[in-house]
Amino acid sequence: MVVRAGREFLAIPGPTTMPDEVLRAMHRPAMDIYSPALEEMTASIQRDLSTLFATKARSYIYIANGHGAWEAALTNVLSRGDKVLVLESGRFAIGWGAAASAMGVEVEILKGSWSHAVRPAEVEARLRADTQREIKAILVVQIDTASGVVNDIEAIGRAIKAAKHDALFMVDAVASLGCMPFEMDAWGIDVAMSGSQKGMMAPPGLAFVAANDRARDIHTRAGLRTPYWDWTEREGAEHYKKYAGTAPVHLLFALRCAMDLLFEEGLEAAALRHRLLAEAVRRAVGTWAQGGVLGFNIAEARERSDTVTTVTMAKGSDPVALQRYCNEKCGVVLGTGIGDLLGQAFRIAHMGHVNAPMILGTLGVIEMALTALRIPHGAGGVDAAVTYLGEAVKA
Ligand SMILES: Cc1ncc(COP(=O)(O)O)c(C=O)c1O
Repeated sequence: MVVRAGREFLAIPGPTTMPDEVLRAMHRPAMDIYSPALEEMTASIQRDLSTLFATKARSYIYIANGHGAWEAALTNVLSRGDKVLVLESGRFAIGWGAAASAMGVEVEILKGSWSHAVRPAEVEARLRADTQREIKAILVVQIDTASGVVNDIEAIGRAIKAAKHDALFMVDAVASLGCMPFEMDAWGIDVAMSGSQKGMMAPPGLAFVAANDRARDIHTRAGLRTPYWDWTEREGAEHYKKYAGTAPVHLLFALRCAMDLLFEEGLEAAALRHRLLAEAVRRAVGTWAQGGVLGFNIAEARERSDTVTTVTMAKGSDPVALQRYCNEKCGVVLGTGIGDLLGQAFRIAHMGHVNAPMILGTLGVIEMALTALRIPHGAGGVDAAVTYLGEAVKA
């Protein structure tokens, strides 16, 4: 017996649901990769990426996923033997650091936790102790998609400034760009990176990096540069070189359309939509948690991200069974607990092309699964979400 039919609903943190307009934008023939129309599209996307990152700096588009953008950011500014400081708050900054390590960069991890955000004071203390200025770059994520934490990038930027340290501040916005404020210039970020498949509502396969003048100056002396990722190679007038080869035309059609939708909505409105829907999810989870089995992975409410909520389950209960029920019976795909939370958590993504029916439907299905699987939970999670939205979204 199932109530699944029609479209499967992805509540995973990427790839996310793509708007129909974005899907349709790709349903056309390729275009001449030397045409002025494509050159203009590239220029417009680069411009709009810089707007999204809130920077005057230049943006680069790569045919890659987030891992590629990590590598692009690292190879352009570092040399073998350089040291970077990785700020732990889950899985992804650690992954970025692992890529650096594999390239011959020395990696120091500022120990954090999977259950709370990076502490800016700890960053400042570590940087003050680096009297020899050995640390060349600081790597951190704005939202860690595994733990569900949101880091206060502005405060970390202030901490770096307070320590008077000149390390490059490099920020991963893969799970946050287009979903919440990001202020590259105002927060003192030197290199920012992101990808197409989450808040950007486009297919996986495009990666973005923005680099300010300081980073581009250091780039001129970086020893890890390789032709594909190299910023200088991509900066000339020749359009073909902007992609180090053939342009990914269909992905660009999709991204152009997705960006148009995002700007049409307005960045502030999109951020507010994410905040409201995330809070609805949190109201539901908070209610279910009263049953003593479910809980928030992130201890402090203000450190829970607006794009993904990581829900822990007590020992003896099985998140995979819950996910399986949601998927097989109802066609809703939840995110799996990953890394340290493997087998102990599930994730509800609320990023990108999401609206009230999608989120309330997802919450309804989870509550249905909790009931069907006899998992103890506080009653009325969906009610709490609906009541919250009904009060917050005024008539
Ligand atoms: C915050 C963050 N950074 C980087 C990545 C890596 O991106 P990709 O899987 O596209 O390589 C992810 C993927 O989920 C992510 O969530």
